[in-house]
Amino acid sequence: MPQAEVAEGGPTVSADRNVIDALQEERRSFPPPPEFAAEANGTGALYGRDLEGFWGDEARTRISWFTPFDRVLEWELPYAKWFLGGQLNACYNCVDRHVEAGRGAKVAYHWEGEPDGDRRTLTYADLQREVVRFAGGLRRLGVGKGTPVGIYMGMVPEQAIAMLACARLGAPHTVVFGGFSPEALEGRLNDMGCEVLITQDEGWRRGNRVPLKVNADQALTHTPAIRTVVVARRTGGPVAMTPGRDLEWDAVTAGVADDPATCPCEPMDAEDLLYLLYTSGTTARPKGIVHTTAGYLVGVSATHHYVFDIKPDTVYWCAADIGWVTGHSYIVYGPLCNGTTSVLYEGTPDFPDRDRWWSIVERYGVTVLYTAPTSIRTHMRWGEAYAQRHDLSSLRLLGTVGEPINPEAWMWYREHIGGGRTPIVDTWWQTETGMIMISPLPGVTTCKPGSATRPFPGVDARVVDDKGREVAPGAGGYLVIRAPWPAMLRGIHRDPERYRETYWSRFPGAYFVGDGARVDEDGDFWLLGRVDDVMNVSAHRISTIEVESALVDHPSVAEAAVCGRSDPQTGQAIVAYVTLKAGHQPSVEHMARLRAHVAARIGKIAMPANIVFTTELPKTRSGKIMRRLLRDVAEHRPLGDTTTLADPSVVEELRVRAQADGGQEA
Ligand code: PRX
Repeated sequence: MPQAEVAEGGPTVSADRNVIDALQEERRSFPPPPEFAAEANGTGALYGRDLEGFWGDEARTRISWFTPFDRVLEWELPYAKWFLGGQLNACYNCVDRHVEAGRGAKVAYHWEGEPDGDRRTLTYADLQREVVRFAGGLRRLGVGKGTPVGIYMGMVPEQAIAMLACARLGAPHTVVFGGFSPEALEGRLNDMGCEVLITQDEGWRRGNRVPLKVNADQALTHTPAIRTVVVARRTGGPVAMTPGRDLEWDAVTAGVADDPATCPCEPMDAEDLLYLLYTSGTTARPKGIVHTTAGYLVGVSATHHYVFDIKPDTVYWCAADIGWVTGHSYIVYGPLCNGTTSVLYEGTPDFPDRDRWWSIVERYGVTVLYTAPTSIRTHMRWGEAYAQRHDLSSLRLLGTVGEPINPEAWMWYREHIGGGRTPIVDTWWQTETGMIMISPLPGVTTCKPGSATRPFPGVDARVVDDKGREVAPGAGGYLVIRAPWPAMLRGIHRDPERYRETYWSRFPGAYFVGDGARVDEDGDFWLLGRVDDVMNVSAHRISTIEVESALVDHPSVAEAAVCGRSDPQTGQAIVAYVTLKAGHQPSVEHMARLRAHVAARIGKIAMPANIVFTTELPKTRSGKIMRRLLRDVAEHRPLGDTTTLADPSVVEELRVRAQADGGQEA
């Protein structure tokens, strides 16, 4: 039986060289179910192996090489080269080899469009035919090894097909999330110098049409290097086509053979560029994160295999968007490299109703579901009745990524989606790391709600203080990675200085992650959020996630985000933005109750000075709360860049409320 013990208001852990006070202690833990452990891909023996031995074995067993590598690693800080001398092709590994091995009839993607009944099944053989034809078409347009290609699409199979076709030809791609603005698209296409853009007419989102081609056309007025635009048809809505530049997808593939021998996979060097993915900094221009071929593929396939415990009959669903790194690594390259059957869903979780996800789990018999804490909290707010309408008993493993998950959301996920029996893998990683870095291995690791637990085998993660010295167990500090890993970024496109400065200057010899963390007595890691978000209250450094978790722990609270604002007495005071569950009303009395709850849960020091009730929190399109904007609101400052916000009207509403509530401050 799992222990189910909750610490009442855990003490402030103070230890030498503590740089973030870890205030909250969560003591529930869930050992692996014995029947899961008996068949798990992971074993304890994976830990503690030497780095090169471990990754070398993974590279040999998971990847088909055209030429075997002769060196596992060359490390000249801050640049790593993995599997030197090796030649391979990512598309060959993700598609062709499965067909050659007789697995062509296996489903690669069960695609479900947002409009009811829109479904398509692509086997590995189907995928190969589509990729070969599209790659052949692109080649006819002059795309070849080294041609930079932009992709701006919705969640349709053609998006994965486009990525794989580029990989087949050795053309590096940059995928721009379909929810991004023309401005964001333009910046990325120009930074990479893309010559070709692959887009689609329109996408579906919550029953509305997303004008992808219209947005692209706007961006294309300022992208001099783009000579060809390929337009896939999704909604069939009318779109303007610029003669001499724009081509229909079907025209590109017309008359192209689907025999793989007619468009063979380009042999690529291990360190050849596979893709750039842009990640926004808080203010400065986006960084083009560089991912190369072999190390990336080894990293994502190995982590996918062990962390999601992939079996031949697994039906795996990563509910992220392909436009984020999560989709690159764990919808496209990782699962396909492992020959897995995946679900691909186009739309939102509440269309036509809030049970859409659960109907998908039931229809395809999904066994592994991977999503973000923000989605889990949204489902939690809607209530478990939607999940109860469907049979979710096929699920055997759940995963989360993207932010620290508060223990209450973790418990809800396990209980209401996982039927109280599935392990949950809380996976910590970044666009820059390319692959999962800290996560339980299901069947091996004892899971704890809110903890990402252990560095993946072959990953050297530590928590250090200001001076780079490891902190004592229980104390908070900065998360760093001390040794290279295969899927690590190889730099920032065209900006080596920024690469050194951002990741390698803070702690000599180590990769600076930018997140706070603590390691508990068992050696388990607890992520504390971005260090820029840490608040300083009366000389205590308090992480936002702990106060948020305490608030969400109150039965009336659906979501919470906190930030610090300057305070003459305490340095900073905590401001909380809280969304209540249906049936609960904001009031001064309720504010007092929530403050008392935080005090009881983690201590008076962490009590918010003010609580602003709101119906929505400002989030990016990938669901991350933009605390920087909350700070601007709390400090009554003009707002910084809001272009990546999912719904810009949310901050305006908050501003008005924050001013109105100012008088109620405690
Ligand atoms: O702050 C950490 C948070 O997300 C950041 C990376 O964001 P991005 O590059 O957009 O990639 C997201 C998907 C991999 C990290 O620096 N983060 C991600 N996963 C977790 C997390 N924080 C806590 N726990 C996680 N499991």
